[in-house]
Amino acid sequence: MFEFKAIVLAAGRGTRMKSETPKVLHKVCGRAVLDYVLEITKSLRSLKTYVVVGHGASKVKEAVGGGHEFVVQEKLLGTADAVSRCAPYLRGYKGTVLVLSGDTPLLSKDIVAGLLRRHAGRRPSATVLTAHISEPHGYGRIVRDEEGGIRAIREQKDATEVEDEIKEINVGLYCFAAQDLFAALKKVKLNSRKKEFYLTDVIELLLAGGQKVETFTTNDETVAFGINTREDLAQAQAIIRRRILSKHMLSGVTIVDPATTFIDDGVAIGKDTVIHPMTVIHSDVRIGRNCSIGPMSRLRPGTRIGDGVEIGNFAEVSRTSMGRGALQKHFSFLGDATVGAGVNIGAGVVTANYDGVNKNKTTIGAKAFIGSDAILVAPNVIGANALVGAGSVVAKNKNVPAGAVAVGVPARVIKRVSR
Ligand code: UD1
Ligand code: CA
Repeated sequence: MFEFKAIVLAAGRGTRMKSETPKVLHKVCGRAVLDYVLEITKSLRSLKTYVVVGHGASKVKEAVGGGHEFVVQEKLLGTADAVSRCAPYLRGYKGTVLVLSGDTPLLSKDIVAGLLRRHAGRRPSATVLTAHISEPHGYGRIVRDEEGGIRAIREQKDATEVEDEIKEINVGLYCFAAQDLFAALKKVKLNSRKKEFYLTDVIELLLAGGQKVETFTTNDETVAFGINTREDLAQAQAIIRRRILSKHMLSGVTIVDPATTFIDDGVAIGKDTVIHPMTVIHSDVRIGRNCSIGPMSRLRPGTRIGDGVEIGNFAEVSRTSMGRGALQKHFSFLGDATVGAGVNIGAGVVTANYDGVNKNKTTIGAKAFIGSDAILVAPNVIGANALVGAGSVVAKNKNVPAGAVAVGVPARVIKRVSR
């Protein structure tokens, strides 16, 4: 692998999102935009990752968790200023600095690894990732000389008419030789049009100083895709969602209708499970093999589904584990429940888990049968092989012993051993 330290720029205001939430914390398939970028630096074993935060700094710090160093940029004076904030932390470091933007969730690990490999192999002062894209508007353009070498990166606002036609853009991902980067940053001047210090100006400064700058180019249009608006967010979501579905299908899961199936990042699904249309599965859900989920089910975080479970239409399952072969085939809600193997949850069954103050637990033993429309007011325990009659209400803290039959409102045990 290649040794490097990473700087992730995530201080920007994200004005065009029109949001109280910092841009990098908006969710794509269940995870913050910034998480996707940090996952890449982590998986490529960055020696250290500095996340530059500014707008909504405390929210970002809280949401993103540990494993990185946060560097605060007090005033949002541009990308060059943001990188400069990291200089004190990197004093004396002579290795490679990888600079990334926190708002590019579609970036792939392979491309970043490719850039690092190229930089390590040729050792210029900087290697810039560029992409050829059909609609370059808004991106910095790569200006080249007659020999095809990079000469500068020109921002949209400063581009001439000719430069405006250039379809090769700056992705916003760079490798630098640390010392050269920080020396050049000191010379960056304020851009009078945007009142910001541009990181992209470093390229011209390095070249003017006789240093080598190279490019690494991709034709993948999606890598450069940054989130600036809510529309971008939706587009990124569509692409990542499709990637997630592909991954599951390639590992042996049938997804009957990808167009209407929503599976967040961070979901595990076993082989030969079938996901029927219009199903929503959130992060932190694990599903076993040979299950049938949906159509129109919703599995929420903290849910664990054993092998051979069937969850049918209009069923919602939240923070619940279901044992092997359990059935919940029709409209129903299970929350904060532990459901044993072979349990049958009838149509309309509800675990009333929330009493207005606390979320309470329901435990249902193996092979218990919960009749249609029963309400289990948590907390309670339904023993193994017990039967709760249709339409019954098992009151709060009233348990049904193993093998017993309980019916009525409120439910009373009418037989001790039934089945
Ligand atoms: C930047 C590049 C542009 C490139 C594009 C790719 C510059 C000057 N331009 O433009 O060439 O094509 O990215 O997406 O770098 N940020 C800070 N502090 C600041 C300003 C920005 O941390 O003071 C962060 C933002 O949160 C963001 C990243 O830097 O994650 C990029 O900033 P942004 O304003 O989005 O730059 P672009 O205009 O997209
Ligand atoms: Ca951007």
